[in-house]
Amino acid sequence: MYVLGIETSCDETGVAIYHAHKGLVHHLLYSQVEMHSAYGGVVPELASRDHIRKLTPLIKQCLAESALTAQDIDGVAYTAGPGLMGALLVGACTARSLAWAWGVPALATHHMEGHLLAPMLEDNPPKYPFVALLISGGHTLLVKVEGIGRYQLLGESLDDAAGEAFDKTAKMLGLGYPGGPRLSQLAQQGRPRFRFPRPMTDRPGLDFSFSGLKTFTMNTLNTTAKTEQDKADVAYAFQQAVAETLVIKCRRALQQTGLTTLVIAGGVSANQEIRRQLQAMAEKEGAVLNFPRLEFCTDNGAMIAYAGCQRLLAGQHEDLQIFAKPRWPISELTSVHRG
Ligand code: KG4
Ligand code: ZN
Repeated sequence: MYVLGIETSCDETGVAIYHAHKGLVHHLLYSQVEMHSAYGGVVPELASRDHIRKLTPLIKQCLAESALTAQDIDGVAYTAGPGLMGALLVGACTARSLAWAWGVPALATHHMEGHLLAPMLEDNPPKYPFVALLISGGHTLLVKVEGIGRYQLLGESLDDAAGEAFDKTAKMLGLGYPGGPRLSQLAQQGRPRFRFPRPMTDRPGLDFSFSGLKTFTMNTLNTTAKTEQDKADVAYAFQQAVAETLVIKCRRALQQTGLTTLVIAGGVSANQEIRRQLQAMAEKEGAVLNFPRLEFCTDNGAMIAYAGCQRLLAGQHEDLQIFAKPRWPISELTSVHRG
């Protein structure tokens, strides 16, 4: 079974073809980063218009470079949410229309389930059950994963997502958009001079809050001279605070569940310092840390094609309807039982 995956939830147009037995056949990504950077962040209307321009040519290119035709495709999976409404609608309408025209099933796929399952695209995928830390621009979730669709939410951010905190802090530092990678680059020149709070680690529970940390960073910036070295020191302190907070919560989640595999995914899991600190913690706890390759940490079509394929194999698909759900809790997903 060949599945075409389509991702258009935010500022990347992602297309991929996944085969149920052969694995990932091909994937292509067009990033809108350059266009949005002029505005210091994602402009939703521009994102939608650009998806319209790029999606169809990208699908054609993906088929051609895979030496496949539309007749080879057995199902179409598309990101139905969460994400920007206009951007989601482009992918959803295109995917549903293609599926109808080709006479194959369509599947509305959950973006965060895509991130969660992205490590399954690798040669050495994690084994269920595991704890997953999903850290993206819009979400910070700690989930106990027992199988596809069998997700127990252990904790989440009560305010800003980890990626959002990176992006907003980067903006304060004058780094522009996209902020996360730029902040982490600047932090490499930073010295351990400030100590920022590790939010919500002094009380039990697995929820996160990064908004106070952002304010603390702003106050520190306002009270220190703004030389390049000062900024690098602040970036370093911010990154350390986020990394250590994630480490504390993940350690707690492993201990609480008794599980020994930790999966990290989502854009922020591309951060090398966060990976390094989680790796060190996992080793100490006798656990295994698993993450997707860098290009599958951030948004991509491959994770959607994979997630969609698993659900299509289990017989799930949509009626003749177009699904786009800007807000869609991961706990609403149904489990997949494959006999
Ligand atoms: O998963 P993703 O590509 O899109 C969403 O689903 O939101 O994540 C994007 C987020 C952005 O906030 C971006 O700044 C952050 O991931 N990010 C990083 C790094 N690379 C991407 N944050 C920190 N360090 C990085 N190296
Ligand atoms: Zn994402």
